[in-house]
Amino acid sequence: MDGNGRWATKRFLPRLAGHKKGLDALRRCVRLCMERGVGILTVFAFSSENWGRPPEEVSGLMALMASALAREVPELAQEGVRLHFVGARANLPAKVQAGFAQAEAATAHNQQLVLNICFNYGGRWDMAQAAAKVAAAGQALTQENLSAAMALAHVPDPDLLIRTGGELRLSNFLLWQAAYAELFFTDRLWPDFDAPDLDAALAQFAQRERRFGQTSDQLSPSQAN
Ligand code: FPP
Repeated sequence: MDGNGRWATKRFLPRLAGHKKGLDALRRCVRLCMERGVGILTVFAFSSENWGRPPEEVSGLMALMASALAREVPELAQEGVRLHFVGARANLPAKVQAGFAQAEAATAHNQQLVLNICFNYGGRWDMAQAAAKVAAAGQALTQENLSAAMALAHVPDPDLLIRTGGELRLSNFLLWQAAYAELFFTDRLWPDFDAPDLDAALAQFAQRERRFGQTSDQLSPSQAN
């Protein structure tokens, strides 16, 4: 969800105003995904590296998260959204930690859409914590054991990865899980991301041939020759 800061700066607003608009865009995107039958949505809301931002932006994002939890969770729960918060929790404010636990408990039985909110998350953090877990359990460091120990083990690998804001990089997001994800990059700043953008991404996804290392002929043998 990149581009909140630039969205705000273009309007001579503080960066936090962009994050607030970003939250509105997330809410809209959750609804759009449900309307389109997307079953799992995973978003990057705060990276392990975002602690390095100016202190007022970091505390603003923490406060925004705490207030968003209080305001949004009852409605999300009613709409059938199941929330998971993915990332290291220990160094987050107590209010945010408690809000995560409450939100996960309140939505645990929902099945309409799984919404994974990556917060204090990094792909490298996830791989390291998974490896530590596997080693502590005395298991072999196999791909299967590592996958099962990842913070996103409760969902399959993503099919489509969308990055807004014009940058062409993954920035430590889903490094393990995105091995075969189709990538979609758009210049749209996250607060402006709306139905036409999501539909463009889904339409492009539908055109992609997913070979998973195989050849086209192997995928549709009847069309070979
Ligand atoms: C990246 O844009 C965005 C973030 C670091 C925060 C994303 C947060 C939200 C969408 C709000 C919902 C989440 C919470 C915390 C309730 P950027 O700030 O890097 O934008 P820039 O590249 O234009 O500076």
